[in-house]
Amino acid sequence: MAERGDIAEIRERVDIIELVGARVQLKRSGKQWKGLCPFHQEKTPSFYVYPESGNFVCYGCGEKGDAFAWLMKTEGVDFPEAVAQLAAKTGVEVRRGAPKDPRRDELHERLYALNAAAATFYANILLSAPAGEPGRRYVEERGLTRETVERFGLGFAPDAWEALLSHLTARGHTAEQLAEAGLVTARESGGYYDRFRGRLLFPIRNKQGQITGFGGRALGDAKPKYLNTPQTAIFDKSAILYGIDIAMDAIRKSDVAVIVEGYVDAIMAHQVGHANVVASMGTALTEPQVGLLKNLTKRIVLALDSDAAGQMATLRGIETMRGALDYDTVAVPDPQQLIRFERRLKDTEILVLTLPEGKDPDEFLRAHPDGWPELVAGAEPLLDYYIRAVAAPVDLADPRAKSAAVHQVAPLIRELPDDIQRHHYTALLARLLRLPEDAVASEIRRLTLTRRGRESREPEEAARRPRRAEVSREAHLIGLLLAYPDVAHDLAGDVRDDDFLDTTHRLVWAALRDAAAADPRLKSRDFLDGLPDDALRDAAEEVLVALGARPEQFPGPLRQEARDTLRLLRQERYDAQRLQLQAAIADASNAGDATALGELAARLMALMEARRAFDPAPSPYFRDLRSAEKA
Ligand code: UTP
Ligand code: MN
Repeated sequence: MAERGDIAEIRERVDIIELVGARVQLKRSGKQWKGLCPFHQEKTPSFYVYPESGNFVCYGCGEKGDAFAWLMKTEGVDFPEAVAQLAAKTGVEVRRGAPKDPRRDELHERLYALNAAAATFYANILLSAPAGEPGRRYVEERGLTRETVERFGLGFAPDAWEALLSHLTARGHTAEQLAEAGLVTARESGGYYDRFRGRLLFPIRNKQGQITGFGGRALGDAKPKYLNTPQTAIFDKSAILYGIDIAMDAIRKSDVAVIVEGYVDAIMAHQVGHANVVASMGTALTEPQVGLLKNLTKRIVLALDSDAAGQMATLRGIETMRGALDYDTVAVPDPQQLIRFERRLKDTEILVLTLPEGKDPDEFLRAHPDGWPELVAGAEPLLDYYIRAVAAPVDLADPRAKSAAVHQVAPLIRELPDDIQRHHYTALLARLLRLPEDAVASEIRRLTLTRRGRESREPEEAARRPRRAEVSREAHLIGLLLAYPDVAHDLAGDVRDDDFLDTTHRLVWAALRDAAAADPRLKSRDFLDGLPDDALRDAAEEVLVALGARPEQFPGPLRQEARDTLRLLRQERYDAQRLQLQAAIADASNAGDATALGELAARLMALMEARRAFDPAPSPYFRDLRSAEKA
């Protein structure tokens, strides 16, 4: 069974703006974000995403839900799959004690075995086959030794359409299985062909040393430069650190992990004797990637190219890195900034190593293998690096640019734990911007004060609020229904699926409604035990725990409590929607957008109508008397 809290933890951690933003272009509008609804055709945005509650709602077509619902609706996956995907994304381990799904295990084993067989095939070609000659030349050009090639298990995919396909099908594997592993691709006209052709192959292994996929480098200028295994059941590029299996011991021993961008960068570091190096594979670091290092060291050095893109990646990397490590929440949200400082790292040191102009680690390492430790030792703390990066492009003759830079850095300086550090970084910022230190310090204080004034209540509220999912009215309602299936039985006709925004609540309700309809004497425990899906059962248990151990009560008041909760829930929703629409109407009216105004006004009317039609105060006593009579 998944540990309690896993689902809630995922919900807490997932960045709904990022998730939805990958499909829908979102624009910030106050505390929420809006965009064109992906579920229906529209010209004026009526699709809103609320980062605080983690939900999305379309006021046009009525689609709504949380991050899980988003994946289920947009990707067509089921709930367990949505949980698995978001668990991987957020680095939350969904722990289970119940027997694992044997079919899944079997699939994974098969994929690992296929990858291993493919790696052997490719390695043999690189090491000895005539067809491997171009690969051998390329490896030599890149300065990789035979020992390195063997250690990393590099291979070469000959420039042919069916080399691997015919090799492995002759050994009893089917083309469909190879496709499942991402090793071959289906032709539209039928049949399959090798995915990797004419490329140097880098097998990518997990911490246990199992091959999860491959990266394949073109020898010439073919595009893409690196072709990777597509997403498979065991390969998710965003959750991998290349070289982790080989680097693990050295990272632990040296108590520092160095993260470079490229396969060859990592390999070259190992070749010249620096074994605590892994590669992030070119993308911004993700939480799961950093999670892989968590138990090995608390010191992470980012070694990225000195070009602008490299800097961007660094900054984005830093952002996610803060999330993956232990942190305290600090409320300084600004999703449009490159770095969000919502969480403060606890005992984790992040340093940034800047390579000499125009070099990548591979080039540097080849030229100065012994200069590397010095570079690593000279890595700058994240904050120094960030302040320099902000200050560097500022035109020192432009006072407004200087003040913008101070504003950008201020929230960070303010977050520092003591005066000495605050003073140190204020002085650094002042020096870089050629400003008197006093002026910078007083501006930071001023910004801090005005910001504090505005936000003073938020941190306290955040501290008091345990977990969204546990305190919401919605959770309370589903908790009551779950704890008292007879109440669920009676309310089955009144509670609608879409009263629940939270996917787990919604799924639990759908199952509960049916079970309670079939058996009026249903017991909570039996219902839970009968739920087929672990993740769902755990979520349901969590809801029950959150509801707390309630004393047995008379059915009347409980039923009433459930009805009242439902009524308040709906009223809250209507009111929130009304406020949203009114804000959107104000926007449209300011912008002089008559079309939008018309549409929004019509929607508001419809909403008010629905609110009226909704029975505001059910007459509980009559209902309950009647059900008591029946009983
Ligand atoms: P770079 O483009 O910076 O290349 O990609 P590199 O590592 O210096 O490559 P070489 O030295 O020219 O061979 C950095 C990393 O980003 C990933 C790879 O992991 C690569 O090592 N990448 C890059 C891809 O996955 N696909 C691409 O098309 C390009
Ligand atoms: Mn390179």
